[in-house]
Parts: sequence; structure tokens; C-alpha cells
Amino acid sequence: TCHCNISHIKIYCWKFLFLLLLIVCAILSYLYKISPNINQKTVASGLCPSSVSKQSITPLKNTKHLLVSAYMDQRVPGFDVRIIGMFRRDSIQSLHCCFCCSGALVETTPANVLQHPDNFGFPFVTTDVMCRIPQNCNSTHVTLLTQPRPENASIYAWLPVRNRKTKREDQMMDFTVCISNLFGDYNNVLQFAQTLEMYRLIGVNRVVIYNTSCGPELDRLLHHYVQEGFLEVVPWPIDKHMNPSRGWLFSEHGGDIHYFGQLTTLNECIYRSMERSRYVLLNDIDEIIMPYQEDSLKPLMERLQTQHKDVGVFLIENHIFPKKHFEPSGKFHLARWNGVPGINILEHVYRETPDRTIYHPYKMIVRPRMVEQTSVHSVLRFFGQQYSVPPDVCRIVHVRVALRKSLKLEELNVDKRLWDFEEKLIPKVDQVLKKLGWLSGKEK
Ligand SMILES: *[C@@H]1O[C@H](CO)[C@@H](O)[C@H](O)[C@H]1NC(C)=O
Ligand SMILES: *[C@@H]1O[C@H](CO)[C@@H](O)[C@H](O)[C@H]1NC(C)=O
Ligand SMILES: *[C@@H]1O[C@H](CO)[C@@H](O)[C@H](O)[C@H]1NC(C)=O
Repeated sequence: TCHCNISHIKIYCWKFLFLLLLIVCAILSYLYKISPNINQKTVASGLCPSSVSKQSITPLKNTKHLLVSAYMDQRVPGFDVRIIGMFRRDSIQSLHCCFCCSGALVETTPANVLQHPDNFGFPFVTTDVMCRIPQNCNSTHVTLLTQPRPENASIYAWLPVRNRKTKREDQMMDFTVCISNLFGDYNNVLQFAQTLEMYRLIGVNRVVIYNTSCGPELDRLLHHYVQEGFLEVVPWPIDKHMNPSRGWLFSEHGGDIHYFGQLTTLNECIYRSMERSRYVLLNDIDEIIMPYQEDSLKPLMERLQTQHKDVGVFLIENHIFPKKHFEPSGKFHLARWNGVPGINILEHVYRETPDRTIYHPYKMIVRPRMVEQTSVHSVLRFFGQQYSVPPDVCRIVHVRVALRKSLKLEELNVDKRLWDFEEKLIPKVDQVLKKLGWLSGKEK
């Protein structure tokens, strides 16, 4: 019986061990499920983000490239984050996306480096780097590495991942104007003040401008609008990192990048606006996208959007008002504005008819969520349709040097659209100039 008892005990023992094993397995798999970091290799914790870049242009370590900003973007299947940068085309190498997940540094994911198709021959090109976020990572910051394993998080310059909170369109503002780059000693104060006040009258909520440098009076004017909250100035010290070109074509103008990085800032501005503005207007500092049948942009876009539901890119034709021709009555030649540097756009009412037999540039109103990559006069990658808005509905009022220099005054169109706003526009401009001490006391 003794023998029999022992074998009984053995069987019980095995059964017990087996049960114990099952319980341990169950507990482990439960822990595995609830702990978000267990199924990804944490390389080191508590180390990131040790140094977050506060610059708008951040050199990428061990490369010749520059990073600008990182945004959540899950519109392209397989990717979660888009890093916008300026990459040297002759030094493109393979890169790895490195994420900081709630303070923990985890294994990298592969980076997909997409150069924008427009580079105009310059050595640097606007580049998107697409990354996938590791599983269960609450990614607050990202950077790029040249090797697949992260080593020392404290030497990386981390970029915050922006647009992590999405908004409904009805929680957003309507219109943001993105003006790309301010450089040199541009000091066209009167035109800029009139233009910003005009934007406000037609319903623009916010203006974003990228500033490399500007003239002294314009600098004061910019500060005024920043203080008011209407203008957002993004520092753009691109001249500290390369020799930016003042022209658009490398073979003609030389330099490292097209127009002080205009293509990069336009793209950056679209992503910056994606979770806060329904529409983005991409135009230059001296251009006004002007509705001709409605009083402001909102009813214009409501009508266009009702007629063209799937359109995310509205092309607006550029129309030149040569600054050499003045309106003869001098009605808006106000003596009190004489001391203010710059062009008085109300005095220029003669509009060139575009020569449509040659290339004629457009600027754009876009829905930022439908745009992936943009150039200056066209969108490079987008979702949905585009539509050319007829000029009698909306056109760009662009006061500058004549484009078709051979045209005589009689061949130009008289266009006083800006005058329709004079009653509101002039007091607003006066108010700003007065505040900055530029309004001269004596009237004509
Ligand atoms: C992710 O991290 C942010 C910032 O640290 C925190 O506010 C947020 O609650 C986290 N989200 C989740 C789902 O853990
Ligand atoms: C990481 O880099 C920092 C700064 O260069 C240095 O002080 C530290 O010793 C490095 N740590 C490791 C583990 O290499
Ligand atoms: C624009 O940049 C220049 C050069 O850095 C700076 O001196 C100026 O104050 C900036 N203006 C504004 C409004 O930020």
C-alpha cells in the first residue's frame, strides 16, 4: 500500500505543478497586456526628452540636414508622424525615427525620406520624413538617427510632436494667411499696414509670417500686430545655417535654397494651421486675395464649397496693378501718410490683363487637411480636387512693378475694388499709424 500511496502523491504533485504553471502563465500574460511598455524594448527610461529644440531650424546631428518641425499625420496609411525639414540632396542617407514615449526611449522605426519634387536646382530641398510610431507609445517627442539603435538620448535634439490633439472643424477659426518669408531690409510699411487691415476686413483671423530680417519701421509694425494677437511671427534664421538664395532658380541666382526656404515655410505653415484653421491662404506679403462678388471670404468660400464639394485647393489668379500708374484725382493721396515708407495701394487702380498665352501664376486658398505637399503656385500632393476660381469671382490684387511693361495706360483696366472698403479701411490704417507715431499732423 505504501508503494501505491507514493504514486498517488506523485500524481497529485504533477497536477499541482501543472496548475501552478497555468496560473503563472495567466498572471504573466495579464501583466503583459496591461503594461504598455512590456511588448516593446525600452532602451533606457527617464532619459528623454532631455533637450527639446526651441529653434525653428534644428541641425540634425551627424548629417548636413536641417529639421524644422514634426506633426502627427495619419492620412497616409502606415505612417503616423511627418517631420518637415530641409535636406541636402547630395547627402541623403537612410535614417531611423526615434521616439520618446512618455519619458522612455524605445527601439527606432524605419524613416521614409520623401524629397519634394520642386527644388529648382538648389542643393537643399524641402523634405518630409514619414515615421511610424512604435506600438503603445505615447509619443511626445521625435528625432532622427543615422544608426538603428538609440544610444545616448541626452545628445539628441528632440522635436515636439505637434497636432496630437485633433479638433472638429467647427472648433477652428476660418481663415489663416500664410506669408512665407521676410528677408533683407524690406520696409514697405504702408502697403503692409493697409494689406493687414484689408485682410481683417475680409474676414482673415490670423496671419503667419516667417521672419529672417526686415527694415526697422516694418519691425515695429510687426511687433504691434503680434501684440494685438492678429499676427504670428515665426523666427526664420535660415541665413545662420546656409547661404539662402534671393531668387527662385539655382542656375540664375545661385545659393543653397530657393528664396530663403519659401517652400519649406509654406508647407510648415499648412501643418501648423491644420488643427486650427479651416482654410489657409497662401500668398505673398504684397498680395490680397480679394472676393469680387461677396464682401468677405466666408460667403465666398461657402458658395464655392457648395458648388465644389470635393475641392480642397482653390486656385486664384494673380493680377498686377503697376505701381507706376497713379489714380489721377489723388483722392486717396493723403498728406498725413506722406512720412510713412512704402506704397499706398489705394492710389493704384490700373490693372493689367494677364497674358494667358504664357505661364501665369496662381496663388491658393487650401483646406489644409486635404494638402500633403505644396509649392508656391500649385499644390504638389493633395487629396480631393482642385478648382480654378474665375477672376470675376475672386482675384489677387497685387500692387507692384509692372509685369507687362509695354502696356499703355489705355490698355489697362480700371479696378477700384479696394475703394469699396475705404470707409472702414482708412480709419483702421490711421489708427495703427497714429499709435506708432507715424501720422503727420497736418492734412493737405
Ligand atoms: C501622453 O502624454 C501626455 C504628455 O506627457 C499626457 O498628457 C497624456 O495624458 C498621455 N496620454 C496617454 C494616453 O497616456
Ligand atoms: C551621454 O552624453 C552625455 C553628454 O555628452 C555624457 O555626459 C554622458 O556621459 C553620455 N552617456 C553615455 C551613457 O554615454
Ligand atoms: C525679425 O528678425 C530680425 C532678425 O532676427 C529681428 O531683429 C526682428 O526683431 C524680428 N522681428 C520680429 C517682429 O520678430
